[in-house]
Amino acid sequence: MAKSIYLFLALTLLDFAPLCFSHNSYGGYLYPQFYDRSCPRAQEIVRSVVAKSVAKEARMAASLVRLHFHDCFVKGCDASILLDSTGSLVSEKRSNPNRNSARGFEVIDEIKSALEKECPQTVSCADIMALAARDSTVLVGGPSWVVPLGRRDSKGASLSGSNNNIPAPNNTFQTILTKFKLQGLDIVDLVALSGSHTIGNSRCASFRQRLYNQSGNSQPDFTLDQSYAAQLRARCPRSGGDQNLFFLDFVSPTKFDNSYFKNLLSFKGLLSSDQVLVTKNQASLELVKMYAESNELFFEQFAKSMVKMGNISPLTGSRGEIRKNCRRINA
Ligand code: HEM
Ligand SMILES: *[C@@H]1O[C@H](CO)[C@@H](O)[C@H](O)[C@H]1NC(C)=O
Ligand SMILES: *[C@@H]1O[C@H](CO)[C@@H](O)[C@H](O)[C@H]1NC(C)=O
Repeated sequence: MAKSIYLFLALTLLDFAPLCFSHNSYGGYLYPQFYDRSCPRAQEIVRSVVAKSVAKEARMAASLVRLHFHDCFVKGCDASILLDSTGSLVSEKRSNPNRNSARGFEVIDEIKSALEKECPQTVSCADIMALAARDSTVLVGGPSWVVPLGRRDSKGASLSGSNNNIPAPNNTFQTILTKFKLQGLDIVDLVALSGSHTIGNSRCASFRQRLYNQSGNSQPDFTLDQSYAAQLRARCPRSGGDQNLFFLDFVSPTKFDNSYFKNLLSFKGLLSSDQVLVTKNQASLELVKMYAESNELFFEQFAKSMVKMGNISPLTGSRGEIRKNCRRINA
């Protein structure tokens, strides 16, 4: 009896351990209480600035979620995306996925300056992005999760990493899945995390190819609903209008819900990379159906996958630094 209770406890602890302490390949680890003593108001400060920014512009929630993704896929979640170009450093802000596209940098600056006043050189820019992504999701109606903390900031950036690691909207299903697997993420993470396209915008330039010349034969992508395609062409012409904005989820563009998955099932995914989740792979199609059916299952998996993405090779211990200004490495 006593033995079975012990076994039960051991299994329970094992089961929950990955939620509390997230190990990475360098032996350092992240945990939610990281700032409890050093900066007890840290999370409250992040939340209040994010709330103010999202109240001003709902899209900012989407932009902040995406910033964390584009950070984590390049050298891990180390705030490399935030560095501006200087002398020898080439900013990731110039990469194809980020140029004229990544946004929210001013919000991160505002959070950082509030935190520097409260507790100087304590809270990393990388952790700010992880918290801001969670708070943004909650503010627009999505799930919440506990954010493991303790990431440190990089002393460099990688333009080539940004260009190569982040999937492009016209990549094939296989290429996208491979890029996720290279980060330790699987097909379940891919489908759940793509669900963040339930909020936010895309520029015409990111999906034009689908409207006019999908595979180089001057034909549109026939996996796109053709009346929806016609509507899109009205503001996304063959040439020009590159920066024109479109909702990724036209049904509920500022609400975090599962309508993105429902859209995919009616062939109204905006990006080719969205639609391929139902047209090119049986396993991902089944996942899309499941999340279209159950908002609850989507939310649960989204939260898990965001924690997993947030654990991609963080800098911990004495590696990296705590930047004073998220845009540059400390002098
Ligand atoms: C699966 C591969 C993915 C591809 C190919 C992709 C591609 C894109 C593209 C092309 C845009 C529009 C950018 C523009 O035109 O300016 C976009 C927007 C966005 N992406 Fe993704 N994405 C992917 C996965 C993800 C993931 C994993 C997340 C977050 C966890 C994410 C979050 C977002 C959000 C929230 C927006 C809207 C941003 C805004 O309105 O500022 N995406 N994505
Ligand atoms: C994908 O889009 C990029 C940028 O527009 C383009 O250079 C490339 O040729 C496209 N790739 C395919 C396979 O269509
Ligand atoms: C369509 O794309 C192919 C290959 O990318 C290109 O050779 C062709 O000129 C394009 N057609 C039109 C009408 O733009």
